Amino acid sequence: MTIPSPTSVTLGEGAFTLAPDTSITIGSPELVPLAALFTTEVGLDTNLPHVFSADGTGTAAGGVRVTFGSEGLNGVPGVAGVRADGASVDERYGVEVSADGIRVWGATAEGVYRGLTTLRQLIAVHGDEIPCQRIIDGPRFAWRGLSFDVVRTFHPPETVRRVIDMCALYKLNVLHLHLTDDQGWRFEVHNRPELVKFGSLGAVADRPGGHYTPLELAELNRYAEERFVTLVPEIDFPGHTGAVSLAFPELTSELPSIPLPNGDKLQFHSLDPADPEVWTFVEDVMDAVIPQFPRSAYLHIGGDEAWGMSDEAHAAFVRRAAELVRERGKQVVGWQEIARADVDPADLTQYWLDVQDIDAISERPEVPAFLIEHLGKARHDVPKALERGCKLLISATTYLYFDRPHAAPSADPAQEETRARVGLRAYPPATLQDGIDWDPVTNTPGVTSDDQVAGVEAAVWCETVTSRDDLEFLLLPRLPGAAEKAWSHTTPTDWPVYAAALAAQAPTWRHRGWTWFQSSEVAWDVQKDW
Ligand code: ACM
Repeated sequence: MTIPSPTSVTLGEGAFTLAPDTSITIGSPELVPLAALFTTEVGLDTNLPHVFSADGTGTAAGGVRVTFGSEGLNGVPGVAGVRADGASVDERYGVEVSADGIRVWGATAEGVYRGLTTLRQLIAVHGDEIPCQRIIDGPRFAWRGLSFDVVRTFHPPETVRRVIDMCALYKLNVLHLHLTDDQGWRFEVHNRPELVKFGSLGAVADRPGGHYTPLELAELNRYAEERFVTLVPEIDFPGHTGAVSLAFPELTSELPSIPLPNGDKLQFHSLDPADPEVWTFVEDVMDAVIPQFPRSAYLHIGGDEAWGMSDEAHAAFVRRAAELVRERGKQVVGWQEIARADVDPADLTQYWLDVQDIDAISERPEVPAFLIEHLGKARHDVPKALERGCKLLISATTYLYFDRPHAAPSADPAQEETRARVGLRAYPPATLQDGIDWDPVTNTPGVTSDDQVAGVEAAVWCETVTSRDDLEFLLLPRLPGAAEKAWSHTTPTDWPVYAAALAAQAPTWRHRGWTWFQSSEVAWDVQKDW
């Protein structure tokens, strides 16, 4: 079994035996880089001694044959939602394993890549005896992503590449980078050097800051593009602008601080839409970030938790920011609070504050009044967005916020310290099964059809993440679960079947050197060593 589970798998008799001289034959020059990447990735996923010998373009029988084609793919149900690159791309593919060879095909290079990804997993799971089978597959949603907080902890490019690798292995095609927040600013604005000079130095607590140079972002975009992942930038405003205040104190309004029950104070900053200098700043930022993410058709404008601002000022800010994005030929995505600004039907509303969490958090006596008020307003965001005809990007905290603590103990007692420390305690802990026993349509209030959904995006916020290991501990094994929800047409997911498929992923993670939470909910397949 591979993750996400394919639309159809028909098992045959016997197996194909991979040998050290198994060749890859490529049906078109355009597919040569995909085959080369596939060979490299199999080498990283496994200990198998095989080096596929590339025969280049040709028709050699036997081995792995990779071609363009759409045979048998019409039976795959249609895809819903929108793509972050704004394109319309057929991602469907077929993989056929028979005793004398393997075929991988798709109508587009991206479809072929998805098929090769399934074959990578088959090889990692079965080693050199791959059972005969025919797989026909395609995605349920076009936008399948992860939102990655690189502010609260700054993650260097090498870590971002590892996360792109994880996304690609599970057919996620969007990595949304949360590039700005109260604690840091993570990219260069050429005519505003102060943003990096003063805004990028810190992170949460005493963690080191940092930022991505234009060259590093160009390299990350190229790396992601090779793996058919689109990087989407987020500039979070008008709230969450503490880092702007470090560079340009005159641009942000310091709102009255809010006393917390433990004696601390929460200090909010925001950008005032009535200040013309704010708009010069916003335009400079947009003009700098958009060219650094050339494959993204969208700019994420944040819009969340603008605490302390009046509703009118927040809505005025979001409306103007959205107009400026559209004027630059890009499309708008924002957290669900943008629905309060009468957004355009083409704007994507990212649903995060789900009712279960709103109820649970609002009932706690220690929760401050401003937060209860915010949560109360949040109940109306999704109905408003749907009324306007906006599609939802589903990121419900209950199922898709990976910074929830892990609820089940680890099978490895050495991981219990990390489990107790990593994950925001404001959220009730969640099991892996919690991330599986739900559906993006049936568990989103007001949504009745895939057509109302742009896609599914998990989120990892890094307040409690102090290292790359902590990050990976939250991402794995939850990320494949989000991919299952985003890609697979099979719903509901059968937990025991999924848990067995997940168990078989562990050897790949070990070979890759990725840290993962060894939840006791899963009988991890630790014996396999090929
Ligand atoms: C969010 O978690 N503030 C979008």
